Amino acid sequence: MNFVRCDQTPAWALLERHQKAGEWDIRAAFESDPQRFDRFSQSAVGVGVDFSKNPLNDETQTLLHTLAQQCGVADLRDAMFAGEPINTTEQRQVMHWLLRQPAASLGGALAQPLALVHETLDAMLAYAEQVRDDAQISDVVHIGIGGSDLGPQLVVGALHQPDITGKRFHFVSNVDGHELAAVLAGLQAKSTLFLIASKTFTTAETMMNAHSARDWFVRQGGTDTARHFAALTSNRKAAADFGINQCFGFWDWVGGRYSLWSAIGLPIAIALGETGFRQLLAGAHAMDRHFCSQPVQTNLPMRMGLLDVWMRNFQGHATRGIAPYHSGLRRLPAFLQQLEMESNGKSVDRQGHSLSHATAPVLWGEPGTNGQHAFFQMVHQGTTVVPMEFIVVRKATHDLSGHQRALLANAVAQAQALLVGQHDVGGHRHFSGNRPSTFVWLDALTPESLGALIAFYEHRVFVSGAVWGINSFDQFGVELGKTLALDLAKRWDSNDAQGLDGSTAGLLRLLK
Ligand code: F6P
Repeated sequence: MNFVRCDQTPAWALLERHQKAGEWDIRAAFESDPQRFDRFSQSAVGVGVDFSKNPLNDETQTLLHTLAQQCGVADLRDAMFAGEPINTTEQRQVMHWLLRQPAASLGGALAQPLALVHETLDAMLAYAEQVRDDAQISDVVHIGIGGSDLGPQLVVGALHQPDITGKRFHFVSNVDGHELAAVLAGLQAKSTLFLIASKTFTTAETMMNAHSARDWFVRQGGTDTARHFAALTSNRKAAADFGINQCFGFWDWVGGRYSLWSAIGLPIAIALGETGFRQLLAGAHAMDRHFCSQPVQTNLPMRMGLLDVWMRNFQGHATRGIAPYHSGLRRLPAFLQQLEMESNGKSVDRQGHSLSHATAPVLWGEPGTNGQHAFFQMVHQGTTVVPMEFIVVRKATHDLSGHQRALLANAVAQAQALLVGQHDVGGHRHFSGNRPSTFVWLDALTPESLGALIAFYEHRVFVSGAVWGINSFDQFGVELGKTLALDLAKRWDSNDAQGLDGSTAGLLRLLK
């Protein structure tokens, strides 16, 4: 495949000129166009997005669409969905989408991998039902990190109803024993199921926690490892060497941060049951179809991925705040951090040449309304403009009177305050306004809608990465620190500081 780098396209130069020529007063844009909300909002597969409070106009959109075309974004998308190895640095296919593809719906070379996907899915869902029916298992401890933790944690946190399953879920990721010890303190071996989730089954944190969990289990008198441990991994051999027989596999074409749809999603399947898990997959698949079939003008992940490029490269915003106004979505900021920053935090193109344009912004955030009482001061009046993303759910998942109205009013008010500001008061009480935000909504928080929302974000990140000309599917940037940590761990007891820089040697002396 031959792709033109975004900064070498005619559209890029036109966008630069367009940005310089514009006023970009969002308030004024609303005053002059009563239809602006409708023209810059769109719903697809139950995910609604209002991006009218961003500095863009019709010409911006047209130029961005041309940019996508000149960069070959749709071609790269089609290559991904055709099973071509678009993860070129690792020579791998990128096929997390296949995990949510209906059974027997593809022919050719993808028919067999799809059949394997469904074989594994059926086995995993049958096991999940068995665990759900097992009244003796009251606690499920999921041990994994990064993509083997964040997706399952997000979805279980959003959709699990403990009164229905009668089970508690615990997520342990950190190598800090404080986390595992606190979880184990409240458990009994006979009623605990450990899920060891690691694509590679070599990740240091997960392996250390898995060994400590097994030691604890044995010390507690636990014997039936087959019943109390399951592995979710593409490295079946390592799981067997660890002593786990119950293993659910997946494939090297599933990236860690895209793996919640695979066996890594077993805790989700236990929490939601077979029907719920299949609904989650169906919601994501519907978003896949939308992404693959719609022209750029009505393609929601395309439009938003291109807007992200506009905001990063032409409006110069190096950050985005994520504020889910639903406590069930409290792990969404962390999930999106990995999705976007691990995928697109790169500074070389697919061929390894340095980039002269910016890539992934810094993502961060907290659920609203809590964030309002922490960092929103800076968002409203600080010297750095932070484009905010508000995520709301229209229908409440509880029946406590008054809360939902207060919650949604707060979300809308924050976006309104960022836009309109406050000008009749000076000094400390002055709000500049004209600060951008995007509003995302779901009608209700269901397995389908959450599946569609997550797939929407996956594809949106794909689009900006494709424009930037980077490989969004490797993560070599996490390797150096891992290697150095292993080296330092070896030096810990020998006190060997040879060859270390002065600060590292000093910290080693101090901490050991
Ligand atoms: O931190 C890097 C990373 O490889 C992530 O991409 C991945 O999600 C995480 O580690 C966990 O990896 P594994 O599932 O192999 O334990």
